[in-house]
Amino acid sequence: MGETVLEVKNLESFYGPIMAIRGVSLKVEQGQVVTVLGANGAGKSTLMKTISGIMDPEKGHIVFEGEEIQGMEPHQIVNRGIVHVPEGREVFPLLTVDENLSLGAYTRSDKAEIERDREMVFSYFPILAERRNQEAGTLSGGQQQMLAIGRGLMLRPKIMLLDEPSLGLSPLLVQEIFAILNRLNKDEGVTMMLVEQNARVALELADIGYVMEIGRIVMDGSADRLMESDDIKAFYLGHQEEGQRGERRWKRKKTWR
Ligand SMILES: Nc1ncnc2c1ncn2[C@@H]1O[C@H](COP(=O)(O)OP(=O)(O)O)[C@@H](O)[C@H]1O
Ligand SMILES: [Mg+2]
Repeated sequence: MGETVLEVKNLESFYGPIMAIRGVSLKVEQGQVVTVLGANGAGKSTLMKTISGIMDPEKGHIVFEGEEIQGMEPHQIVNRGIVHVPEGREVFPLLTVDENLSLGAYTRSDKAEIERDREMVFSYFPILAERRNQEAGTLSGGQQQMLAIGRGLMLRPKIMLLDEPSLGLSPLLVQEIFAILNRLNKDEGVTMMLVEQNARVALELADIGYVMEIGRIVMDGSADRLMESDDIKAFYLGHQEEGQRGERRWKRKKTWR
């Protein structure tokens, strides 16, 4: 088994009086993809914000490569190699693709290496190379997600925290982006923590999964085992198909009118 790079122990985080993270513990080993699944409002984004220092936890420990990092400033945490790609692909819309990537490398001064990494990003996302001089705000949602991931890669992450990269994208684009994440993990050795509502694609990519409900971990195990679990099938894989069927019915109804 690999070495543990990130360990979260009994973490609690609040928004004022609201307890959003209620004693979460989890581990990520070197080279793994670990996914945290859960419905909207489960606390997934709060967990990532607390790990990356955007929020301070009330209690608990976050240990990265043997060092306690809870309560550190976000830039100190980035400098240690933890890179957060936030929900909603926050790229700078008025800056070009190239400028967004350069901003990703803001903590670095090794010019030749930065250019090498930019070419690496372009090799994974060729569409970004084609559009390198275009303003990021003019890209499609999928392309903006690719840019957000590419910008994260420019920081040479030891671990990437990916917050719902599938959100709002077509199934085809989701497949494309997850295939690239898989290659980044296998070929570049990027360790990943991925939070998702889309349980199916997340479990296909991940080695290990945790399921979060109302701020707590309620289940965990290997991705293969979770995929076969009746509870997961019923509540996460089943519901999704149900939801999609519902949506199709709804769409059909609308066109009848
Ligand atoms: N800025 C905020 N202020 C107050 N409550 C919040 C804020 N952001 C999230 N919450 C609450 O915290 C809980 C967890 O939210 P979040 O971490 O965004 O869930 P998820 O990412 O799993 O959808 C929810 O109950 C949500 O309403
Ligand atoms: Mg979220």
